[in-house]
Amino acid sequence: MRVEKHPILGDAGQRETVNITVDGRVIQARKGESISAAMLAEKLRICRHTTKSKEARGLFCGIGQCTDCVMQVNGVPNVRTCITEVQEGMTICTQEGVGTWEAKDE
Ligand code: FES
Repeated sequence: MRVEKHPILGDAGQRETVNITVDGRVIQARKGESISAAMLAEKLRICRHTTKSKEARGLFCGIGQCTDCVMQVNGVPNVRTCITEVQEGMTICTQEGVGTWEAKDE
């Protein structure tokens, strides 16, 4: 599910990898790719569940317009994962409804 060679973007296999955690599972992502692209490469398709009917939602527009891909990223809800680049050590969780802010220990 990952484009390895692209005529304009080049060879994805040459890019550095970063580790991110999605719902407790550590996956490897390529530097520069979006969270949702990294998830799709691992066959992870559910980003959130709707508030009223609890239906699953995932990548839809892929360009930051629909908000179907929002997830909780490092404790912050409503992050559009299709336009958010992966960073080493990110913690990403499936969002339930409108999500909740998680306090950080600092
Ligand atoms: S898939 Fe539409 S905003 Fe991300």
